[in-house]
Amino acid sequence: MKLNITCIPGDGIGPEIVNEAKKVLDKIALVYGHEMIYKDILMGGASIDVHGVPLTDEAIADAKAADAVLMGSIGGDTTTSPWYQLPPNLRPEAGLLKIRKALNLFANLRPAILYSELADACPLRKDISDAGFDMLIMRELTGGLYFGERKTIEENGVLKAIDTLTYDENEIRRIAIKGFDIAMKRKKKVTSVDKANVLDSSRLWRKVVEEVAKDYPEVTLEHMLVDNCAMQLVKDPAQFDVILTENMFGDILSDEASMVTGSIGMLASASLNDTKFGLYEPSHGSAPDIAGKDIANPIATILSAAMMLRYTFDLDKEADAIENAVKSILKKGYRTGDIMSEGCTKVGCKQMGDLLCEEIQ
Ligand code: IPM
Ligand code: MG
Repeated sequence: MKLNITCIPGDGIGPEIVNEAKKVLDKIALVYGHEMIYKDILMGGASIDVHGVPLTDEAIADAKAADAVLMGSIGGDTTTSPWYQLPPNLRPEAGLLKIRKALNLFANLRPAILYSELADACPLRKDISDAGFDMLIMRELTGGLYFGERKTIEENGVLKAIDTLTYDENEIRRIAIKGFDIAMKRKKKVTSVDKANVLDSSRLWRKVVEEVAKDYPEVTLEHMLVDNCAMQLVKDPAQFDVILTENMFGDILSDEASMVTGSIGMLASASLNDTKFGLYEPSHGSAPDIAGKDIANPIATILSAAMMLRYTFDLDKEADAIENAVKSILKKGYRTGDIMSEGCTKVGCKQMGDLLCEEIQ
């Protein structure tokens, strides 16, 4: 099979981790008889430095022309990088929001898994972490506060900022369907998270989710208020299977969930539209402080590449091979600095990529 992949190395550790993911994909191609065709595009600070904008129309066209996009990370140090002296719509993050909207990537899948080999890194009490957890946050990605009208005005000499949170029922329905579909392939439980005790958008969310649930009689649906969900994630994370939620709540809860795993350097993500197309990226950021030192953990990006093989290309066997390679390498005790613990062997970014390639035979 020919796989047309547009890559966004991006900023900070992005280029290093994308390199390792390409290495692993090349090994998959060799072993399973595929052909990987890559095209790199610029986004974020890397694009600002060359084009003055975080994402050009040509780059969007290149992304659209591919079967899938594999991304590293974008952005820099917000206090020291000159990128953050620019107006907000020209900063690195604006490129990410623009590509999400341009490619209609409304469904953001963020798995948060406690790897048994890394259980020591989990910051929760042992009796809680012993239960283990494997949840998936399904975050709406192209609506809500992120894309509502916003402005800052002056009223009678007083500055006033306005952000608007809008959802229509179609936007809610399509993400809810994705959430229930994926729950059918997992433990068949959806926790829909909202703030229906205060927000109209949440009340509509709840109504539409309930309508969609009728088509999935095997799936158990529960509703949870977002503030309670934030507590439950640290109190009893094992209760969750699929968390279905709107853009802003999903942004916050997915950071919390990933922290609770203790190994954010391991977590992949996928952003999908209603075709097989997807943008795949690690859940972590660009870590500018460790960029270029060959110490970043490439596993989240490599697992994102596995998600790409699974969701865009339906190559389940190949995706399994990558995920099994990761488990096996952890079992053998190899760790990058972020997940290092006593008695393990510390390796750099490149070496981790090489070790994973060796596991794929
Ligand atoms: C994320 C990030 C982005 C978001 C930022 C970089 C705009 O935090 O992907 O979670 O808020 O969506
Ligand atoms: Mg975030």
